[in-house]
Amino acid sequence: MSAQELAATAAAMVAKGRGVLAIDESLGTIKKRFDTIGIENTEENRRAYRELLIANPGDEKYVSGMILFDETIRQSTAKGEAFAKVLISKGVMPGIKVDAGAKDLAGHPGEQVTEGLDGLRERLAKYRELGVRFAKWRAVITIGPGIPSTGCIEANAHALARYAGLCQEAGIVPMVEPEVLMDADNTIDRCYEVTEYTLRTVFNELVRQRVTLEHTILKTNMVVSGKLCPVQAGMDEIAAKTVSCLRRAVPAAIPGIVFLSGGQSGLDATRNLNAMNAAYDLPWPLSFSYGRALQADALKAWGGKPENVAKAQKVLLHRERCNGLAAMGQYSAAVEAELAA
Ligand code: 13P
Repeated sequence: MSAQELAATAAAMVAKGRGVLAIDESLGTIKKRFDTIGIENTEENRRAYRELLIANPGDEKYVSGMILFDETIRQSTAKGEAFAKVLISKGVMPGIKVDAGAKDLAGHPGEQVTEGLDGLRERLAKYRELGVRFAKWRAVITIGPGIPSTGCIEANAHALARYAGLCQEAGIVPMVEPEVLMDADNTIDRCYEVTEYTLRTVFNELVRQRVTLEHTILKTNMVVSGKLCPVQAGMDEIAAKTVSCLRRAVPAAIPGIVFLSGGQSGLDATRNLNAMNAAYDLPWPLSFSYGRALQADALKAWGGKPENVAKAQKVLLHRERCNGLAAMGQYSAAVEAELAA
């Protein structure tokens, strides 16, 4: 793929009013989600659930791409059409999670480093043949007493840069995801500090590994209070601090930034994204690449029952539409209420 094609893919991922649906839960993570609705984590249940998410009529208006798990890209609809083909035929780009998960980092209690570089060049070549246009790698940064350490942030940034370089070599746009977790009791200002330092480190490494910023999408966390912090920042503070942090640490050459939801509710993730786009003029489009915030209501509506598929798809499409509008700063409570109407 030429540089021009990589640029076109990156631009399409964050085209006006569109974002990414993350459905790349690993076998362990999807089990946790299925446990909440009491269904068994079998290959067929995973296939049926992913078909609901992938073959949702009309979602291409709001969704530019979907991030799949390795198993999913090899699966098909009940009628036998490959999932990747279903997506491509409606103009949604198939993406893939290529990391092998976060593992404990030696010498760094409480911290992790993401693995998966071995054999990545060969895997990327195969994914390209299957129609994949972008690939995600998630690094996890944990806030706690005395952490994160420089060693952890640098190890993760280096791995992200190595993966991103291999993606671009293969003609695949890297979706570089450093996630500062929001599970601890830290203040929003501590999240700001850690996110800024992490992003700076990641971009230094990307440049050092000769990754072209113009062909890279950043996926990151919003700057928020830790879930266990007694003082919770509201929407306007989250928007202001996230924008300020990104302006300081993310080069303007990046074609787009998408957010993970990280444990925010569906409504909060939409409202916070909208607040940024409605009030700030920024060098990059800001859009979504949510997993839980987009899927949670739909998963519940489905409940593992075939007769609920259409209802769940309607719920999902509603959240996708709300986030598509939030990506343009045009979301409102009136739009939110339309589902119930
Ligand atoms: P959440 O939006 O549920 O955080 O998931 C997004 C994702 O892809 C994390 O890697």
